[in-house]
Parts: sequence; structure tokens; C-alpha cells
Amino acid sequence: MPIDWTKSLYSKKHKLFLSKKPENMKFFTLCDGAARSGKTLSIIYKIPQLFQYIGNDYLKVFSGFSKLTVKNNVLSELLPYLKNYHGAICKFNSNSGDLQIKLWGKTYNCLVIGGGKSDSDAAIQGGTWDFWYANELPKHNYAFYNMAISRLTPEKARIVADSNPESPNHWLYTEKIKPFLQGDPIVTSVFDYFHFTINDNANLSKTFIENQKKLYKGVFESRKIKGLWVISDGLVYDTFSDIKHTCSHSEILSKINNLDFVEFFLGLDWGWVHPLSCGLYGITKNNIYYKIDELFGSKLNEIDVINWILNKQSEYGRYFRFLNADNARPELNHKLRKALPNMIIYEEKPKLQDSISILRSVINYDSLIINADKCQNTINEFKSYRYPSEDERLYTKYQDDIPIKENDDAMDETRYAISFYETHFINRHI
Ligand SMILES: Nc1ncnc2c1ncn2[C@@H]1O[C@H](COP(=O)(O)OP(=O)(O)OP(=O)(O)O)[C@@H](O)[C@H]1O
Ligand SMILES: [Mg+2]
Repeated sequence: MPIDWTKSLYSKKHKLFLSKKPENMKFFTLCDGAARSGKTLSIIYKIPQLFQYIGNDYLKVFSGFSKLTVKNNVLSELLPYLKNYHGAICKFNSNSGDLQIKLWGKTYNCLVIGGGKSDSDAAIQGGTWDFWYANELPKHNYAFYNMAISRLTPEKARIVADSNPESPNHWLYTEKIKPFLQGDPIVTSVFDYFHFTINDNANLSKTFIENQKKLYKGVFESRKIKGLWVISDGLVYDTFSDIKHTCSHSEILSKINNLDFVEFFLGLDWGWVHPLSCGLYGITKNNIYYKIDELFGSKLNEIDVINWILNKQSEYGRYFRFLNADNARPELNHKLRKALPNMIIYEEKPKLQDSISILRSVINYDSLIINADKCQNTINEFKSYRYPSEDERLYTKYQDDIPIKENDDAMDETRYAISFYETHFINRHI
């Protein structure tokens, strides 16, 4: 449901941004900072004023990671706002991305495009724009960003963008934010920067803010709550705790007997020299995952996996609905399908960073409990899977935000299982 703008509250920070007259706005304005801090909605609020100033001579562009993210993050609020509060008539063709806005007697031709793919820049070669709103700018491809800037030649052209912080080595930080903060005269002449924390959104309830603060620790707290561009380091799952997130085998058995689990499923990461990891999970009706058992070790093949699964089905007396496996070995997954015809074998490899955040969030909600008597390898990896340190980053080729590829076999398998279940079957707000 679109927000009720008549009840909007604005903090000092937002007023500072909103009170800038378009003619006094620099060529490029970035609203950056914490999640839910009100960046997108402030920009939306400013759009009618910006359009009126810029005029309708050229194309206006709205971009995001994909067309769909712009639709969900921006148009879902912008279009009802323009219609209900300014009497605009808007026509959006979600296939072509064409958006026509009739506002205060003028027709503005706009285009909605995705900028997140490596070849996104090819779609925007040629043409002149006089307005560009980049939603979640750091998720755009660098070539797209440069190509887009080169389209904005008219004198009154303006860029507005919002961003959530990522690594301080990201191009947006090194090329714009850092030089701006250091007072670089070239950057500050064309670029303006507004920084928000979660406390700057006067529309959020105190309870919501307190809950969000409880959810994130370490680098995620710095990014999500304070909106800072900091590097990930230390343990990937730093909030995993023996006390809160493990249990005994007898607890698991009594849960199985009490029919607490609504279903059972598995995750699998193939390995040979590196260990193979296969995990068995149960989920309760309150959406708490239990890792019930694990098969872990080097030189295990598909026969070992099949036998283990069949043995576990009879040991626990339950049917396992599906397995989500590493997609690197399709021929082995095919063998599983043949040997286990009643079980669905998915092979959906989730994106590393996305699924790490999902798993972290599940742990932060205390919604993953590991059987300490059966899953020692998983527990060991939760305590050792980590991001590279500053030194390692300096002297080696480690990438920011990517954990070191050590002690990650049970971690990958746990991600395959949990993030698959979360994204397909659970409607949890993460
Ligand atoms: N002007 C406003 N009036 C009413 N509610 C608002 C306003 N601005 C923000 N909010 C509330 O705050 C929420 C977050 O705002 P918004 O989506 O703009 O944040 P954001 O900083 O863009 O977040 P993200 O980083 O997650 O994209 C909105 O869903 C809405 O509930
Ligand atoms: Mg936003």
C-alpha cells in the first residue's frame, strides 16, 4: 500500500535535502546511507519539482539493478504519489520500460532500465537525457554508470541517486564519496552528498528501529544501521553462538517423535579432495530450522550419499521431501534423481553474498539450531569461516566481501539448503 504523504515526517537531514531548490542542486546528488533511512522516498518527493525545473525536452531515465527492482522500489510509490497528490496521468509499459508522465500540462517521456548487468551499457548508447534517477547506484555496472553520465549533456540535466553502503573499495566510494568527504574541489563542484542513518527517518517507529539494531552486529550493523562504507572482516557468521544455536541429539529425537517438524529436506555440496558435505534439516511450524544430521568427508561419492540418505530415512522414520545440491556436478545429481525417484533434486546455486545475508539473518533471528552431537563439522566451520584480514587483502588477491575459501564445505551446503527454503517457501522479512 502506498504511503500516506499527508502524514509524512521529515527529520533535519531530510529537510536539508528537500529544501534545496533544483536550480541550486549540483549536477549529481547522492542520498546515501542506512537501509530504511528514507532515501528513496525523499527523492520521489522531489521529482515533480525537478521535472518542472528541467522541462520536457529530453528523455528522463529511471534505472536500478533491473527493471523489476525499479518497479518495486521506486514506481510502486512514485506513480501513486504523482497521481494522487499532483493529478498526474502515468502510463507504464513494463515490457519496454517506457513510462509517460503527464504532469501540470507537460508530458515527460521516461524510460525505466536495468543497469546491473555487465552488458547493460549497450542498451543506452546514443540519445540525450536530462534526468537520471539511479536507485541503488552501487548495484549498477560501472560501464553503465559511465555511459549514463555521458548521456546527460543538457545544461539543466540532473542526476539523483540513492545508495546503500558497500565496501570502501567500491568505485562509487573511491571516485565520488571519499573525494567529496576530503573536500576535493573538482568533485565537490559537481557532486553533492547527503548521508543518512536509520535514526534520520522520522517515520519509523522506535520499536522498529530498536528491532533492526538488534538484528545486525559488526560490519552489518555499521552498514545497515549507520550507513557506513566499511569492509567486512572477521567471522562471516559472527553471531553464531553455541548456547543459542545448538542442541543435543536427544532434543532432536523428541522433536521428531512429537511431530514438531513439518517437513525434512537436505542440502549437498559435492567434493572429492575437498570434503563433501550433506546436511539433513527439519523445519518447525514456527519456521525454526534444525540441522539434524550431516555427512561430511573427503573421497565420498554419490553411492555414499544415496546410502546415507536411505539409511537416515529409515533411522528417523521420516520422508525427506527435497534436496538442493551444488550445480557443479550435474551428472552426479542425475544419478541421485535415478536412485531416489521420490525425492526432488534441485540444483539451484544461490548467489554467495545474497545467501550469506539470508543465513546470517536466520541465525540472528535464532532460527537455526544445530545438532551438536551429530554436526560437529558444521559447528567447526561456523566458528572458522571468515573474511580476509586487512593484511591478507593487502598482500593477496582476495576480493572484498568474499570470504576466504577455506572451511567452507559445510557452510556452502548449509547455504544451499537454508537459502533455498527461505527464498522458496518462507515469507520472512529479511
Ligand atoms: N516521507 C515519508 N513519509 C512517510 N513514510 C516514509 C517517508 N519516508 C520514508 N518513509 C517510511 O520509511 C520506509 C523506508 O523509506 P525508504 O524506502 O525511502 O528508505 P531507503 O533509505 O530508500 O531504504 P533502502 O535502503 O532499504 O532502500 C518507507 O517504507 C516508509 O515506511
Ligand atoms: Mg531505497
